[in-house]
Amino acid sequence: MQTDTSFADFSAHCLSRVERILDEQLPQTGIEPSRLHEAMRYATFNGGKRVRPILVYASGLACSGQPEQLDMAACAVELIHSYSLVHDDLPAMDDDDLRRGKPTCHKAYDEATAILVGDALQSLAFRLLTNGTESPSAETRLRMVRLLATASGSRGMAGGQAMDIDAVDTELSLPELEIMHIHKTGALIRASVQLGAMAAGGNESQQNHLGHYAKAVGLAFQVQDDILDVVSDTHTLGKTQGKDAAANKPTYPGLLGLDGARQKARELLDEALDALAGFGPEADQLRHLARYVVQRVH
Ligand code: IPE
Ligand code: IPE
Ligand code: MG
Ligand code: MG
Ligand code: MG
Repeated sequence: MQTDTSFADFSAHCLSRVERILDEQLPQTGIEPSRLHEAMRYATFNGGKRVRPILVYASGLACSGQPEQLDMAACAVELIHSYSLVHDDLPAMDDDDLRRGKPTCHKAYDEATAILVGDALQSLAFRLLTNGTESPSAETRLRMVRLLATASGSRGMAGGQAMDIDAVDTELSLPELEIMHIHKTGALIRASVQLGAMAAGGNESQQNHLGHYAKAVGLAFQVQDDILDVVSDTHTLGKTQGKDAAANKPTYPGLLGLDGARQKARELLDEALDALAGFGPEADQLRHLARYVVQRVH
């Protein structure tokens, strides 16, 4: 991976790389139980932006890593993310019919299958992190498993989802909303950056700065997701627009208004860029990614 590649080329390259490896790693549909394996693929290969794997590669690049060291982490975070979306869309949670422009997993299959798809994608993510022989070392892989487990569990993403469910029909203060967003979305985005740095052998100072960058980007990502739920349309989003208001969820635009939410996203972008001040051009893709996160239209 080159540091001087344009962001469009870099992200397209990461996207096709992670899709290829996910295709290799997910069980083929011919293998029993074939309906579950088919549904796992349905939930994974459906036009996701692959922001989290791109963050893994960009963070690894900032620490002079090679793509081969980063592949399993890139797949693992996308598998956890895809699982979280399948469960997020279930009737017991957000009850959504459309995801990434197609019927949600429980609509295309059934609820039991969708629950199992989530379970199985999650298990596969951790299995992949244990893959490898030399680099990252076995010790590093163990640390990566622990980091992803914390980020996706009750102290991270799953905990944030619990806060989100509890917050329906309530009014959160700004600090409470921030805590919820940092957990439900920020934790996995932060883990993506940290796993990339770890797998690439980044030193402690690099990992600390990248951790600060990732915390800001992770929150910015959900702020923009909340904004898009208000201002975008279902076709562009590939998911039903206006669901947050319809479900009476606390959001950044709800609390700060659209302008206030946009201002918050800009401040977080500045924070993210500041955290990279000690890096040279090797962190340019991370800088582009941070801008993309707050400027994206879907
Ligand atoms: C949507 O994530 C859910 C959130 C955590 C906000 P993405 O916007 O990354 O969704 P895909 O993967 O591109 O579909
Ligand atoms: C989803 O947040 C967060 C996770 C899946 C962990 P949202 O519920 O806002 O995501 P969308 O808007 O359905 O993609
Ligand atoms: Mg949700
Ligand atoms: Mg949702
Ligand atoms: Mg949303």
